[in-house]
Amino acid sequence: MDEKAVAFILQSPIIATYVARIAGKRPQAITTVELFGADGIVPLARDLFLRCAMEAATLASMELEALLRHARAELLRLAAAPGRTDGDDDIVAFACALARQCFINEYVYEETAAESELAGGLRNRLERDLASGAEIAPLALAVVAAYVPLQAIAAAETVLRRDWPAAVTGLLRVQLREPLAEADERAAIATLTPIKNSVSVEVMRQYEENPYPRWTINPLNAFASDLARGRIVPTAEQQAERDILIAGCGTGSHAIQTAQIHPNARLLAVDISMASLAYARRKTRELGLRNIEYAQADILELGSIGRTFDSIESVGVLHHLAEPTSGWRVLASLLRPGGTMRIGLYSDLARQLIVEARAWIAARGYRATAEDIRRCRQDIIREAKQWKELFGASDFYSMSGCRDLLFNVMEHRFTIPGIAAFLKDNDLSFLAFDPPVTTGR
Ligand SMILES: C[S@@+](CC[C@H](N)C(=O)[O-])C[C@H]1O[C@@H](n2cnc3c(N)ncnc32)[C@H](O)[C@@H]1O
Repeated sequence: MDEKAVAFILQSPIIATYVARIAGKRPQAITTVELFGADGIVPLARDLFLRCAMEAATLASMELEALLRHARAELLRLAAAPGRTDGDDDIVAFACALARQCFINEYVYEETAAESELAGGLRNRLERDLASGAEIAPLALAVVAAYVPLQAIAAAETVLRRDWPAAVTGLLRVQLREPLAEADERAAIATLTPIKNSVSVEVMRQYEENPYPRWTINPLNAFASDLARGRIVPTAEQQAERDILIAGCGTGSHAIQTAQIHPNARLLAVDISMASLAYARRKTRELGLRNIEYAQADILELGSIGRTFDSIESVGVLHHLAEPTSGWRVLASLLRPGGTMRIGLYSDLARQLIVEARAWIAARGYRATAEDIRRCRQDIIREAKQWKELFGASDFYSMSGCRDLLFNVMEHRFTIPGIAAFLKDNDLSFLAFDPPVTTGR
């Protein structure tokens, strides 16, 4: 979610009050009673904009993360209370929205040992009730889903046969129906090349476990609606029938944007991660786009597919190859005469903080597991003075983002002279930086 939307959420008087209360108590931890007061969580639960935002995108804000962690713990306390019935519809709707936020950020929030124990007990109770067919309170289901994805619950699909309030139905769609649809999509995705390179295999494992980026809403909504309303006149290049390769398409937002801008183009979008491709294919179908073909392939092996392209785009990918320039050379060999490439590479200059953070992480021995990433984030948050700049990176606020940002199994960085030398050696002409580089003067 962009900074403006987060700033808008933080302007809500009730949220601003809670955020100030948490900050006012630092460095001590605030209790739930001190935070939410006598009214409890109901005023927060009634914030409709926050609820919608939690369902729509990762909320990249340290203040909101702290508040939502408290809110989740309070909902857990309510749901686990003996003899609890749901009562307030807003609380159930809020718990469902929070569970969707936790699913989108892949459960990146830290939890206390007491919370883990209580949440584990609630999960066991849910599994028992599912097995016996007993009644299940919507709040209990939503709170479990705020700690673990419902897919991980034994016999979870049986909840799909029950009647639920609308908020729970939305939660079930995201946490159960869509992953089931992605499992079907996998079967329809062709494999164009083997994946043999040992680094490619390791990188594939990372993006199988944490497909990236984690996105939900149409990335090109504004452009598409401006186009539909005639506010934008497409250029001849945008209208052309051309073949475009998206190399390393991830979860599809890049390919989907390009396909919407070039409705008459035929796109081939490849990646090594089937989980990413399945997500991309589901989203593409939901958006009604018909001009993207998805396939599994290693960029290093694409020379064998016997196809060429008018345009090749590869953003945020080549620097994860064992030898990025080998992959780039393969891509260049697939370009038709006069074709164009759009390449996104890590900058050596811009990533100095990440280099420091990766060294800090390696020295402390954190592994790229969910548990260690959660612990590492908490330690980074505690040492806020040193790492403040990381908090501005939206990737810091989801598990896949954090892994991509700080724990990538392979990361190379480029300098402008290095890029210039590659272009010269491979007979490529530089066209432009995108977005244009400013001097900062
Ligand atoms: C940081 S993500 C970027 C995804 C997408 N390009 C974007 O900008 O949203 C990197 C992607 O490159 C893919 N990738 C890495 N090495 C690859 C290779 N050798 N061949 C094909 N895809 C690769 C990964 O699986 C991952 O999905």
